Amino acid sequence: MKMGKRHVFGDAGQATLQSPLKPAELCRIHNLSVSYPGTRQKALADIGLSIEKGRRLAIIGESGSGKSTLAKTLASLLPRGSKTEGRIVWGAETPPIAGKDLGFVFQDPSASLNPVLTIGEQVAEGARRHLRLSWSAALEAAQVMLDRVHIPNAGQTMRAYPHQLSGGQRQRVAIAAALAARPGILIADEPTSALDMVVQAEIVALLDELVRAGDMTLIFITHDIALASEFADRIAIFRAGRLVETGPTRDVIDRPADDYTKSLLASHLDLVSPPLIARAPAAAPAFASAPAAGTASAGKEGPR
Ligand SMILES: Nc1ncnc2c1ncn2[C@@H]1O[C@H](COP(=O)(O)OP(=O)(O)OP(=O)(O)O)[C@@H](O)[C@H]1O
Ligand SMILES: [Mg+2]
Repeated sequence: MKMGKRHVFGDAGQATLQSPLKPAELCRIHNLSVSYPGTRQKALADIGLSIEKGRRLAIIGESGSGKSTLAKTLASLLPRGSKTEGRIVWGAETPPIAGKDLGFVFQDPSASLNPVLTIGEQVAEGARRHLRLSWSAALEAAQVMLDRVHIPNAGQTMRAYPHQLSGGQRQRVAIAAALAARPGILIADEPTSALDMVVQAEIVALLDELVRAGDMTLIFITHDIALASEFADRIAIFRAGRLVETGPTRDVIDRPADDYTKSLLASHLDLVSPPLIARAPAAAPAFASAPAAGTASAGKEGPR
């Protein structure tokens, strides 16, 4: 079967990456391999991937497949002594600087928020440092940013400490802090996996809204293919440090080319696909009127 513009990376896929960077490309990764210090094992092996500007790319894979390693490599945040081979060609003159050109949101907001600083101080810090604003201007910008991530009573929350907020609110604050310097790229590394389903959907909707409004490139890392299929333009599937398959979301979901992708979809579609992927709006009234269609029985409905 012909796969259109889709790259299924093997030798042929890699060869197509030799042409010059297109204006729409944020960066192109060539034959990237990464090993952490003290290990011979490659956390990433021979990755070839093009990332488009202003689009939403989902990186999907099971635990240990190398998703965070790719994110850290793009942000130049690998630990000292890590070994990289291959190269990343950026459309911009210089690679992005984390915190300034590239914002990072982590799975656990407690890891990125400082417990002894107020919310206002931590969101303002990025704007002060990277936009060179005065402290009072940075605090004003922080409050605007907290409004934009829909924190209720932003003015009051500015003076609160992280432990005074809910998990979902802390993640909103972490997103505000990541965006404070107005980066062109946002990497969200499993930003919703520590949250319950409802808050998860709200955070995804928020990221989607912010990325569209700010014309940002989003790299969204998840192990949840259904969640990714909801809003990503493109999907890249990783397994054991290798890129298994990449392409436009709809193509990968509807016509997976690799057996591993097929198995991911098969295991997921039975469980959660009806409420999560794009068909949800059409399915919603049927669910509402079907008494047996609760969470426990959603799987029996089947994906279509
Ligand atoms: N700092 C480190 N030192 C040594 N090995 C590491 C380090 N960080 C990650 N690894 C290893 O690199 C491989 C890829 O890890 P990575 O964190 O990129 O996976 P992941 O896909 O993000 O997994 P998860 O879904 O659990 O976050 C794994 O084998 C992991 O054990
Ligand atoms: Mg990870």
